[in-house]
Amino acid sequence: MRRAWAEEQAGQAIADDGFEARFGAWFETEADHRVTWLAELGERPVGMLNMLVFTRMPRPRHPNDKPAQWGYVANVYVDRARRDAGVGRVLLAAATSYADETGLARLVLSPSERSVPFYERAGFTTDTTLMVRHVR
Ligand SMILES: CC(C)(COP(=O)(O)OP(=O)(O)OC[C@H]1O[C@@H](n2cnc3c(N)ncnc32)[C@H](O)[C@@H]1OP(=O)(O)O)[C@@H](O)C(=O)NCCC(=O)NCCS
Repeated sequence: MRRAWAEEQAGQAIADDGFEARFGAWFETEADHRVTWLAELGERPVGMLNMLVFTRMPRPRHPNDKPAQWGYVANVYVDRARRDAGVGRVLLAAATSYADETGLARLVLSPSERSVPFYERAGFTTDTTLMVRHVR
């Protein structure tokens, strides 16, 4: 899916024989901190989404508190030929249900302009309490 997304953006196939190995190494390092969803049609992957879960620092004098967690929703992608058929909605619903069930304090993401209504329909709102430092 990651390769498909990159090739869609490039408008052509990308020759990179080492990519799958680099992806595998990255996934192995990241897997402990991420929850990943893959949408499949039959055996074929058609969409993906992952959530990076941050665990907040514990506080002294609260030994029984479960450290609070929040999630960053990342790499949301659906095969171009399968878009606008609800695959993304199902992936996002799986992530928001997981967040609700796990008691995540919040979910954060960085939408493309075109995808804003997609996230709004799942309950996301534009927030003014976060700051971003863009680096050129
Ligand atoms: C965003 C995306 C995952 C939605 O998946 P989907 O299966 O088409 O989603 P659904 O069918 O549930 O919902 C369709 C909605 O997706 C959004 N969408 C459709 N095409 C899109 C595109 N090329 N880019 C971004 N969002 C898109 C729109 O909000 C659309 O609803 P609308 O036309 O009423 O506004 C998919 O369009 C995609 O992979 N886009 C390219 C990658 C991307 O932009 N990812 C998000 C980055 S934050």
